[in-house]
Amino acid sequence: MSPQRLSQDYPWVSSPVIVSAPMSGFAGPALAHAVFKAGGIGFLGGLPDIKALRTALQDVTELVTGNRLLQPETTLPIGLGVLLFAQKLDEVVALIAEFRPVAVWLFAAHESADFGRWTEAIRKASERTKIWIQFGSVTGAVNLAQSCKPDVLVLQGADAGGHGGEKGAGIISLIPETLYALQSLELDDMSIVAAGGIADGASVAAALALGADGVVMGTRFLVAEETVVHPAYQAAILETEDGGQTTTRAKLFDELAGPNIWPKDFDGRALIAQSYHDHIQGISIDEIRKSHAEAKQTPHLGFDQENRRAAIWAGTGVGFARKKAPASEIIAEVRQAARIALERAITVLG
Ligand SMILES: Cc1cc2nc3c(=O)[nH]c(=O)nc-3n(C[C@H](O)[C@H](O)[C@H](O)COP(=O)(O)O)c2cc1C
Repeated sequence: MSPQRLSQDYPWVSSPVIVSAPMSGFAGPALAHAVFKAGGIGFLGGLPDIKALRTALQDVTELVTGNRLLQPETTLPIGLGVLLFAQKLDEVVALIAEFRPVAVWLFAAHESADFGRWTEAIRKASERTKIWIQFGSVTGAVNLAQSCKPDVLVLQGADAGGHGGEKGAGIISLIPETLYALQSLELDDMSIVAAGGIADGASVAAALALGADGVVMGTRFLVAEETVVHPAYQAAILETEDGGQTTTRAKLFDELAGPNIWPKDFDGRALIAQSYHDHIQGISIDEIRKSHAEAKQTPHLGFDQENRRAAIWAGTGVGFARKKAPASEIIAEVRQAARIALERAITVLG
């Protein structure tokens, strides 16, 4: 849509633009900073605990600038994720005014009007902060483009790891159909970033060919050295392949620890594990919760093979997360492979 806008708004980025997803609880200062240093766009995950969020913003400011202060009139070249249903607007907007992140990524609202309230408040608090909204349907994306005019629309396909719309399509139809709809309404001045199942160079190449200006990776960064992740969770990601068979979308994963607090149209993609098998076999949620709570008491928190009952969020691209590596290496490898894939496609075109 507007391919130059990302390199204008985030002048340190290299091409193709790779974004690390704001994975709450996983994407902390070290990952966001490493992705920034590698010429990508790094996001901090949103944290409902406002004190922890403030510390994360201070820490990442220090990593970027060498101290805890930003020069006046500048932005922090790091993005901040917000889970709308779980965080308080006033508290988060006060932090945005103070730390001036270059972008704020909005996701998971109870009502679509909530996106408008947050967008307005953020723009008022920090006028240079860009608004990113992640959504997974053509109609929803078009409505948000009209009502909020975000700077970036993150189109999230059903292959994505973690939470997303219960109903959804892969990016292969979601992106081009959304682009046609936006263009027909002349809403084509925002950047489009693809998310969901992108974990290697060929899928980056495919997303660009579909019309995206950049890509998001979540699952692939779960094996980055800088990610905050329990070793047994990371081991599960490293050993899992064939994500279409080994992951599934379900609301169950949000019911394991108690009542589901996510907005009603959401579910999440995670590894298929014993809790899910029990659910399919008709075992009651009370029983499943009891076994889950017991597994959470073990040293591996229910992430290990023997006792796997906890949610291990991962997308269908999990088979590409084969090796633990610094984020910079992951990005370099994916970028190079994307170029090879695109060159091959051009050769095939003749
Ligand atoms: C472990 C994990 C945690 C996530 N947490 C968040 C989150 O807190 N906020 C958010 O907007 N998206 C979150 N996501 C979804 C990502 O934004 C993104 O859509 C997804 O990672 C893209 O698909 P992929 O995992 O196949 O790369 C999460 C994804 C994963 C895998």
